[in-house]
Amino acid sequence: MPVEIKLKSLEALEIGIFSYSLAPEEKFVSFNPAMAKIFSFSDSHKFAAKKFPQLFINQADWQLFLAKLNKEKKAEFFEAACLKGDKKVVWVMITATLLHCGRGKKSIEGIVQKIDSSGNGLHKVTREPDLLQTILDSIPDAIYFKDRKNRITRVNKFYADGFGGRLERIIGKTDFDFFPKEQALLMFSDDNQVIKTGKPIVGKIERTLLPNGTWNQVITTKVPMFDNYGKIIGTMGITRDMTPHANLERERYAMVLKALMVLGRALELRDPYTQTHARDVGVIVQKIAVELKLDEDKVTALKIAAELHDLGKIGIPLDILIKPGKLSDLEYSLIKEHTTNCYNLIKDIEFPFPLADIIYQHHERLDGSGYPHGIKGKHILKDSRILAVADVLEAMTHHRPYRAALGIESAIKELKAGSGKIYDTEIVDVTLRLIRRNKGQPFWQNKEFEWKA
Ligand SMILES: [Fe+2]
Ligand SMILES: [Fe+2]
Repeated sequence: MPVEIKLKSLEALEIGIFSYSLAPEEKFVSFNPAMAKIFSFSDSHKFAAKKFPQLFINQADWQLFLAKLNKEKKAEFFEAACLKGDKKVVWVMITATLLHCGRGKKSIEGIVQKIDSSGNGLHKVTREPDLLQTILDSIPDAIYFKDRKNRITRVNKFYADGFGGRLERIIGKTDFDFFPKEQALLMFSDDNQVIKTGKPIVGKIERTLLPNGTWNQVITTKVPMFDNYGKIIGTMGITRDMTPHANLERERYAMVLKALMVLGRALELRDPYTQTHARDVGVIVQKIAVELKLDEDKVTALKIAAELHDLGKIGIPLDILIKPGKLSDLEYSLIKEHTTNCYNLIKDIEFPFPLADIIYQHHERLDGSGYPHGIKGKHILKDSRILAVADVLEAMTHHRPYRAALGIESAIKELKAGSGKIYDTEIVDVTLRLIRRNKGQPFWQNKEFEWKA
């Protein structure tokens, strides 16, 4: 048990006095009762069992304090946020000297005073940490500092308000304490990337599950934090809630999509043979996308692309579209223009995914035998490769003006024969699995296709 120092006048002023051994063993050698009181330890034995760095919320502050002592042999009016025995935060000001006592013995002796975080301490001094905190608290975005182990060391008011303003619920915690594991892993990986590379991550858009169970869309920037020696000591992040903006964007593009859907319906009225084609292709791509475990936004993008993929046929003469029998080369070349027609129609409309390109490439084939550009393999968007398989599957199992339905057996044969040559193997495998699961029958027909913006 360390020696307790008792000086009445200092106890009344609540000035903590301590002697702390750094080497050969880290421990408090002596301290006065005011020291334990400042850190809210009613039991001085429990306080004695603490190591000094454990009292610091931000390990970077402890490192800075040590660095200052090592360099100047003393640290005057050093301020830091500490965690008390009752898990609340206390701001303290430490003045200490470093002592070398020979034979590797090293210790710190000094005094500790409690100050409040608004700058009205026992001794009124200009305190930069509080100025920084005041600035941080005035910003209506979530701002947070983390150490190298991704533990939160400081937050601003906006962040703290999300937890009822209770810092003890936040400080020292990691994202795993607040967010679902998968989401926390992504955040953890971003923090580690910043620490490892020293490069910031700027303006990353992500969806976040809030502690109250609602989702929001946020934009986050994370930057590395350096100490005076240029060593990375952690990260600082700024997260802005973009949910209202995202909702507006969503409404805007939902309106545009509705207008395009009307065009799609107009095409269906014009060409009854393809009346259910687009919607059935939509159901097929949706099933494939879910089976491929694509995220929700991707599934939605694919469904929309499927609904609109043949919209370009609106620019093709009807007598060609519904012509029974074989098409001439010229007629076929006109049909092939539907991908370019659609691309030109929608390419200038902004969507949060490359809708125009997905549609543009839905007749491209892995070996370059497709159209309009004959692009090959992985150069074809994955969404377009999915759409291509779904399109062929639906088309072969439905009647066309120039032929009767070829049936699902023929479609399976076509997909198997083209797998890895003209169609993506993984997508074909997933599609065949879906058919098998439906006892060899089409898994999309008679299903009402629902599109939700
Ligand atoms: Fe097409
Ligand atoms: Fe099609």
